[in-house]
Amino acid sequence: MNRRALAFAGASAAAVGAAAAWWFTDSAPYPYAQRRLLDLPLPFLTNRRLDALLAIRPGERVLEIGPGTGLQALHVAGQLGDDGRLDIIDIQDQMLDHVMSRARAAGITTITAAKADARELPFPDATFDAAYLVTVLGEIPNQAAVVRELRRVLKPAGRLVVGEFLDRHYVPIVDLLGYGNEAGLELSGRLGPPLAYFARLRPDRSPA
Ligand SMILES: C[S@@+](CC[C@H](N)C(=O)[O-])C[C@H]1O[C@@H](n2cnc3c(N)ncnc32)[C@H](O)[C@@H]1O
Repeated sequence: MNRRALAFAGASAAAVGAAAAWWFTDSAPYPYAQRRLLDLPLPFLTNRRLDALLAIRPGERVLEIGPGTGLQALHVAGQLGDDGRLDIIDIQDQMLDHVMSRARAAGITTITAAKADARELPFPDATFDAAYLVTVLGEIPNQAAVVRELRRVLKPAGRLVVGEFLDRHYVPIVDLLGYGNEAGLELSGRLGPPLAYFARLRPDRSPA
């Protein structure tokens, strides 16, 4: 191989290495420019399965982290009745604006949006009857801190539902259960195959 070919091979290997490093380690939030993909339901992570584990009752106060374009938020808000409330928090204003504009168009008035980071939730302890996040946890560095914060804002008999899908930010259920264990949450239900699962966690010693 001549020197030019060697240099080309070296540069190509470096580029592939950099791309691989980005793929496995990048934790930037999902780009708003690619929002149309978020409107497509994910295989196995259906709203029907989310409903089965979340078991919303009218009048409850519920939190969603990272609603994206509102695939789950608009569906859940519709179950809360006039006295219920869904708080959505996201680190990107554009996602929140998008959901609120869809909610207005659908006549849904029970969603409240706030820009916040899931590692530092702007809510007092024991605020929520339920919380959920779908394909979000793996995007956030320090997932243990997110689960701890969610435990803090859940009422003692509250429930947390986490949806995870095999993409580059996938969080295996064993990792999730470890974070839950540290935070005082235990598994109380699970749906879907391991690579596209919903898991429900409840505070330890809460009524089942
Ligand atoms: C892949 S999208 C998922 C959207 C939606 N849950 C769905 O399943 O279609 C991830 C969302 O999490 C948000 N997000 C990422 N990091 C966050 C953080 N640290 N705190 C709050 N939201 C965050 C992103 O802005 C984005 O809206």
